[in-house]
Amino acid sequence: MILVLNGPNLNRLGLREPGIYGSQTLEDLERLCEEWGAELGVPVTCRQNNHEGQLLEWVQDAEAHGFSGIVINPGALTHYSYALRDAISGQPLPVVEVHISNVDAREEFRHKSVTAAVCKGKISGLGFLGYRLAMEALVEGNG
Ligand code: DQA
Repeated sequence: MILVLNGPNLNRLGLREPGIYGSQTLEDLERLCEEWGAELGVPVTCRQNNHEGQLLEWVQDAEAHGFSGIVINPGALTHYSYALRDAISGQPLPVVEVHISNVDAREEFRHKSVTAAVCKGKISGLGFLGYRLAMEALVEGNG
């Protein structure tokens, strides 16, 4: 069972900077993730929240809730949240970090991820496809 987490401002997909993030909504993304999960033979639960603490609790509790891996787009928390980094490194499940946009081609502050180093891997710039690839990596890695 895979947990797909989206952080701050990703509830605004479709409305927010469509030139960067596209015109599809969070609902579209979550539906796609569920379809991809069905194709890969793994149940998927999608959650989004704008609050750091809520994301921390979902990461902390994921194993106890029966998940085997986490796909996370932490939004801007990626660039500064040591609390999220510690939550990821303090739990045993494999985590794949995803960014819809190519963060390395954008502002300097987006080039740094404080969370990527404690993740299994990071995918950036491939749009929603990144979530599917992250899910495949978790299924392939048996995690
Ligand atoms: C993002 C990139 C972050 O820099 C930004 O703060 C986001 C979205 C992405 O998916 O491309 O909120 O994580």
